[in-house]
Amino acid sequence: MTSRISFVILALVVVGYLSVNSQTTGTFNGFQYVDKTGNIRKPADFRDHYELLGTWWVADPTGNQMHMTYASPGAAEYYRKNGKFADGTVMVKEIMKTDHAQMTTGDAHWASGDIQWFVMVKDDKNRFPNNPLWDKGWGWALFKADAPDKQVATAFKTDCMSCHIPAQSTDWVYVQGYPVLKSAK
Ligand code: HEC
Repeated sequence: MTSRISFVILALVVVGYLSVNSQTTGTFNGFQYVDKTGNIRKPADFRDHYELLGTWWVADPTGNQMHMTYASPGAAEYYRKNGKFADGTVMVKEIMKTDHAQMTTGDAHWASGDIQWFVMVKDDKNRFPNNPLWDKGWGWALFKADAPDKQVATAFKTDCMSCHIPAQSTDWVYVQGYPVLKSAK
């Protein structure tokens, strides 16, 4: 009897540990893409495993663009519950060329070719104070289609900041474009 009870308790402890562990290390594990000095790699599997937060269509006379923002698994649910992004959350904004045609829906535009990827990694702990690509609670990175694994940004202040100031009050993220950060009606 006692041994059965202790087995049940042990089983509960193990299950509890596994579920907490999958939340803390399994889900918000963006630092697996960051080396000791803060160099960021692009997550190779984001199309397989990441969540789509939202899409922007940008009309540009030199070529229209489609921007798709993906986030690491669990990012939207955590944001809906806590009103902020979890430490270790990764965002990938994929920028693509577009095509368009008259289709049965109307003048339809669709994404048709890679241009570049912007990556952000949430950092609550100011882990890399001497790395210019870590600032304002995020790590910032850029990868271009001609060398998709080569990080080419040099500093947040020169390469990213001025364009993200309008989103400063929402932790530098353009949350208005991401419907899944709110609960469905
Ligand atoms: C030309 C202005 C501009 C520059 C430069 C820029 N961004 Fe952005 N970024 C935006 C805008 C505007 C959005 C959202 C709307 C859109 O994509 O059109 C955005 C969105 C993003 C997103 C999706 C999450 C979010 O904030 O909505 C990521 C990730 C991102 N940018 C990373 C970066 C990084 C990293 C850099 C620097 C290496 C950078 N950006 C430089 C303007 C810019």
